Formats: sequence, C-alpha cells, structure tokens
Amino acid sequence: MKTISISRQDCELMAPAVIAGMMRIQKMSDLQVRRLFDAALEAGINYFDHADIYGEALHGCEKRFGEALRLTPEERGQILLQSKAGYVRNGPYFDFSYEHITETVNGSLSSPGTDYLDFLLLHRPDALAQPDEVARAFDDLATAGKVSAFGVSNHTPGQIELLQRSVRQPLVINQVQLSITHAPMIAHAVAMNMQGEQQSASRDLGLLDYCRLHGITVQAWSPFQAGFKSTSFLGSLDYPELNALIDDLTKKYDVPPIAIATAWITRHPAQMQVVIGTTNPERVSGAAQGADVMLTRPEWYGLMRAAGYVVP
Ligand SMILES: NC(=O)c1ccc[n+]([C@@H]2O[C@H](COP(=O)([O-])OP(=O)(O)OC[C@H]3O[C@@H](n4cnc5c(N)ncnc54)[C@H](OP(=O)(O)O)[C@@H]3O)[C@@H](O)[C@H]2O)c1
Repeated sequence: MKTISISRQDCELMAPAVIAGMMRIQKMSDLQVRRLFDAALEAGINYFDHADIYGEALHGCEKRFGEALRLTPEERGQILLQSKAGYVRNGPYFDFSYEHITETVNGSLSSPGTDYLDFLLLHRPDALAQPDEVARAFDDLATAGKVSAFGVSNHTPGQIELLQRSVRQPLVINQVQLSITHAPMIAHAVAMNMQGEQQSASRDLGLLDYCRLHGITVQAWSPFQAGFKSTSFLGSLDYPELNALIDDLTKKYDVPPIAIATAWITRHPAQMQVVIGTTNPERVSGAAQGADVMLTRPEWYGLMRAAGYVVP
C-alpha cells in the first residue's frame, strides 16, 4: 500500500493512501465489523475515519466500532483513529464552541478501546466560529492527551487561515468530497478562465493548491459516489462511457473497477488520501489495490473526460 507523509507538530507520520471510513457500520454485527476491520488491515489500511454524527444515535458508529472490536491498548496503538466535531445533526447547524468541541471528543473517547484520537477534524465550517475559542479547546484537548493532531473538513483556504492564526497546533488535514464524477476542485483549474464555461468557476477558492502549498493533506470523501448523497457511479447506467473506460483499465492493470476509481485520486501529485466507505471486505481489498496503480496521463485525463468534464 502506498503511504503518504502527514506533518504533525511532533513528527512526520507515514499513513496509508487509503482510509477506511466508518460512516455506514451502524447496522453491522460484531463479526461483520471484525471482517471489515481485518480486511482493511490486511490491505495495509490502519487508518479509520469516524465522526460523532455517524450512526443512529450520537457516536453510534464509534460505539459500534469500539464494542465490536474491543481493541487492546496494543492493538489500539497499531491503528490511527480520526473523528470529527462541530456538526450538530439535530438542526442541522454548526458549533465550534469550546463546550461543543470538548464534549464531542469526550463522547468519542467513551467508546471502548478509544483512549485518545490520533486526529480530530472540524467537520464543516461554523459561520459563527470564534478562532480563539477553537484554540482554547484544541489546547486543552492536546494537553490532556486526548487528541494528537488536528485538521478540518470542507474548509476553504481563508477559513483555514483564519483558524490557524489563533490555533497553535498546525491544521494538517482538510477532508473534502472528491471522486472522478465529483471533482470541481480539480476540474476548475483544468478549464481555468474559460468564458461562459461553468466548470471554470472555483467553488472552493483554490483549496487544492493552498493545501499543497501549506503541507495540508487532502482526504477525499465519497470517492465512489456520483455526487452529493447519490449512489455509486461504478457500474451505473448513467455513466456508460466512464464505466467502459474503467472496464478497459481493469484489464490492463488486473484490478477491479473500484481500484481504478481509487487510482484516479491517488495518481494526483497532491498525495491525497482516499476515504472509502464500503462495508464490503472484498471492495476494501479492491479499493486498496488502486493506490499502487499509476495511471498514465492519457488514462487519467480520459477518465475525467468520460466523467463529463471539459478537458479543453
Ligand atoms: N467529511 C465529510 O463531510 C464526510 C462526508 C461523508 C463521508 N465522509 C467519510 O467518507 C467515508 C466514505 O464516504 P461514502 O461511504 O459516502 O463513500 P464511498 O466509498 O464513495 O461510497 C460507499 C458506498 O458506495 C457503495 N459502493 C462502493 N463500491 C460500489 C460498487 N462497486 N458498486 C456499487 N456500490 C458501491 C457502498 O456500498 P457497499 O457498502 O455495499 O460496498 C457504499 O454504500 C465515510 O465513511 C466517512 O468516513 C466524510
């Protein structure tokens, strides 16, 4: 498994290019969670992504994970656990207050086998955020040994800069939606400055270049989903050209289709991580294979064009 380097305050950490997202595990049995976990480890994925709001009740998926696996301290030390705070589901609205952030982390840590988080991300921007208050929460969480490193999710460059002016720990991750069919953060730059071309508009104010320039690791969420809250483009009749090209590439590289979808993201030089959400152990192994597939330029741009983007 390809690894990437994440610069934390204390060290450079080598992490897998693929992360196992745990958003969909709520209804899985202990055995199913264990099989998913084992498949991830076997594929070289030791990084698991959570959020307080995943699951039926608050911390539902975190508890399912903890209760199903009952990790020993030694096993816990061999994986990287990431969670998120700041998104109030019953609203919905956003809350980056000191109380909300610290209480959310305490809730995450109440799951069995979870004494600390390796990474805490602020889930979605809070328009009412007070950066100094976020800084105080992060300081207390770091000092108490509850969180080792911090980042954000779905944030623009300006929002990151504003937080970073107060927050003492470096914000080392920005987790955002990215797949071949949902790639505005890459596609706008490919079609830059084309009058009348909708793709030319930057919807994220240049976050990919910003993250690369500042050593922030981009994590791609929903890498197989066609769009926001939709189903997968893999095998979908809505994307015949894309799936035909993916099928051709599976033969060349001797991998399943899901690996090609992963490879499209890991091939980009930004050294991004792919946060997969499948609950199927076989798909976990297949997706992981993609991290080691080095698509050629014609293949990479061909996939983008087949997904409907302008490659002028
Ligand atoms: N930061 C954020 O705002 C944010 C938002 C959403 C998600 N996330 C994170 O990102 C992770 C991944 O998100 P996601 O689950 O939406 O991403 P995903 O990996 O793109 O989608 C997974 C879904 O696609 C299905 N799928 C996968 N391969 C398929 C195939 N070949 N054919 C048909 N269906 C297929 C899976 O079904 P099976 O389970 O049956 O394989 C599952 O329902 C989450 O677990 C979470 O950790 C973060």
